[in-house]
Amino acid sequence: MMNWFRTSALLRAKGVMGINRRNAEYTLPHNPRNCYPLVDDKILTKQLAAKAGVAVPELYGVIEIQQQVRALPQLLAKFRDFVVKPARGSQGDGIIVVTGRSRTLYRAADGSLLDDHEMCFHVSNILSGVYSLGGQTDKALIEYRVNFDPVFEAITYRGVPDVRIIVFRGVPVMAMVRLPTRLSGGKANLHQGAIGTGVDMATGRTLTAVWRTEIVSEHPDTGNPVSGVQIPHWDTLIELAARSYELTGLGYQGIDIVLDRDKGPLILELNARPGLAIQIANQAGLGTRLEIAERELPRLRTVADRVAFARERFAHAGPSTGPASDEARAVVQQAPIVLGE
Ligand SMILES: Nc1ncnc2c1ncn2[C@@H]1O[C@H](COP(=O)(O)OP(=O)(O)O)[C@@H](O)[C@H]1O
Ligand SMILES: [Mg+2]
Repeated sequence: MMNWFRTSALLRAKGVMGINRRNAEYTLPHNPRNCYPLVDDKILTKQLAAKAGVAVPELYGVIEIQQQVRALPQLLAKFRDFVVKPARGSQGDGIIVVTGRSRTLYRAADGSLLDDHEMCFHVSNILSGVYSLGGQTDKALIEYRVNFDPVFEAITYRGVPDVRIIVFRGVPVMAMVRLPTRLSGGKANLHQGAIGTGVDMATGRTLTAVWRTEIVSEHPDTGNPVSGVQIPHWDTLIELAARSYELTGLGYQGIDIVLDRDKGPLILELNARPGLAIQIANQAGLGTRLEIAERELPRLRTVADRVAFARERFAHAGPSTGPASDEARAVVQQAPIVLGE
């Protein structure tokens, strides 16, 4: 076991960024306050993306006030499967992924069954702000349930993986695929127990993964290797990421993209305070990459420039599989893992 001093020296040497630096040097100076509402409310984000011609999961309906909750079963009757979520939620809290029906009951991705009364109660809680940022009253969205791309079949458990890309002033700097597990109940949030797998920016192939405080190379439920998987549509994903800066005006953000079997890449959401555990999944520090990007920014004029730069400079060095390094283990075991949004 490495001692704390050695660990923190290693972390600094690898350019691993902590929460204070993220806030002081990135989110505060680069994210104008007036842009936050656009990403903190998933309804606004959807409208924004739709206006820009970017594909998102279709919105089936919005429940805004308690009086509308009574009409919910009628609205849901039209859809065999769907997702209910708080407009201002985060970390997967309050999201129910309904995958089908069992007689009069809704079947959720975590295996549980809910009746109309329970569904209405859940939505009513969403409106009261139980799951929302800061606990303010909220709205509930009902949207299309994404069917994941078959490439993820072997490495996901009952849920849709998402691809998270950190974007600094339009430059994609680091990516990870988050894979739902039995623990995460159909959601790809690390907080819920999903695993995060690093991604080679050059090729879109997966690296090793982080799960809780461990580095893993297999999916905990399916037992299949999570490394070396080619993410489909990587060219499109990295370009969507590079374009997301113009979409929101946020200089430092995390974009979450899902791959639908039929519809291809869809933007799920954008985050103004993306978590830092992505560094562990990639065994690389954000600090170093952000400094490299910042130096180069004046020369990167177009989206194509930013994409080409990211693929070249942030390519994964070394073998994409194999045992985790000592440094990575130290990061996982001793550094405060900031999961964030
Ligand atoms: N429309 C959807 N279809 C299928 N799964 C979804 C859908 N929306 C969300 N999820 C699952 O829930 C996770 C969290 O959803 P997201 O919209 O990003 O909310 P949060 O802000 O809470 O992270 C996603 O990563 C995905 O695994
Ligand atoms: Mg999310």
